Amino acid sequence: MKLARTVEAVRQAVRDARDGGARHVGLVPTMGALHRGHYSLIDAAGRGCDFVVVSIFVNPTQFGPGEDYQEYPRSWQADCAGCESRGVDVLFAPSVEEMYPEGFATTVHVAGLTEGLCGRSRPGHFDGVCTIVSKLFNAVGPDVAFFGAKDYQQAVVVRRMVADLNMPVRIELCPTVREADGLALSSRNQRLSPAERAQAPALFESLRLARELVAGGQRAAAEVVAEIRACLERRAPLGRIDYVEIVHPDTLRAVEEIDGAVLVAVAVRFASARLIDNMLVDPSAPAD
Ligand code: PAJ
Repeated sequence: MKLARTVEAVRQAVRDARDGGARHVGLVPTMGALHRGHYSLIDAAGRGCDFVVVSIFVNPTQFGPGEDYQEYPRSWQADCAGCESRGVDVLFAPSVEEMYPEGFATTVHVAGLTEGLCGRSRPGHFDGVCTIVSKLFNAVGPDVAFFGAKDYQQAVVVRRMVADLNMPVRIELCPTVREADGLALSSRNQRLSPAERAQAPALFESLRLARELVAGGQRAAAEVVAEIRACLERRAPLGRIDYVEIVHPDTLRAVEEIDGAVLVAVAVRFASARLIDNMLVDPSAPAD
């Protein structure tokens, strides 16, 4: 595995790979502190591509003031070993100065899709995401980039950006990887206190409840939202609900009547970490 610290170095590595016959270059953008969720993307990239680049960059521009940029978990040695053992070809880990040199002045903004859900409570977050993802795409030049469904809004926003700016990259969405009790894996989970950790599976439980209600014939989104809120308040009293929303999976606009597939999305703020989760719910799908 090659370690690239600069845009020029990763470009050169990808150029060499293409000269050597690589036809499908895959990129997995991450902020490190890698867990099984990240590794599922890396494995998907390994299956679909003949050259895999993983980026690790804790991107300061996507953290708001008062958010956890300084405290964001970092585990460089373990991340390197994990990537190496999974056959990653290049680990791209630039410095903040490399990505945002003196005089940096450009922001990529996707309108509309970024206004609701996480965009509402994290203003500017998706501008930071779109700006860094554009830069990573330009640096690496991948054919395919892999994103996780856990950050569903992020993937929809990135897809919109790629289409609007004619970026020659296919965005592949990979399923959310969970703990045995349903909690979606997240680098931030390690910050939860034992009591918070015990309540954190409430997010997934509330989503499963929503799926059951819809399978049972409930079509009024407001009713489902109320049940989800009640479930979260009962099961996760240490958390404060940030949002519970039922939206169209493509437009991310709020849905009133559930007459097709919807995205049910929740965010809960615990003292030590804000957690998000979501589930696609299709009223025509058989209940399991
Ligand atoms: P990060 O939070 O490190 O996540 C990197 C990728 O891993 C994202 O596509 C995310 O959706 C995916 N991921 C995280 N947890 C997952 C899980 N439990 N199951 C499946 N996939 C999971 O998302 C970011 O970094 C940044 O915003 C980034 C895109 C790198 C831009 O800075």
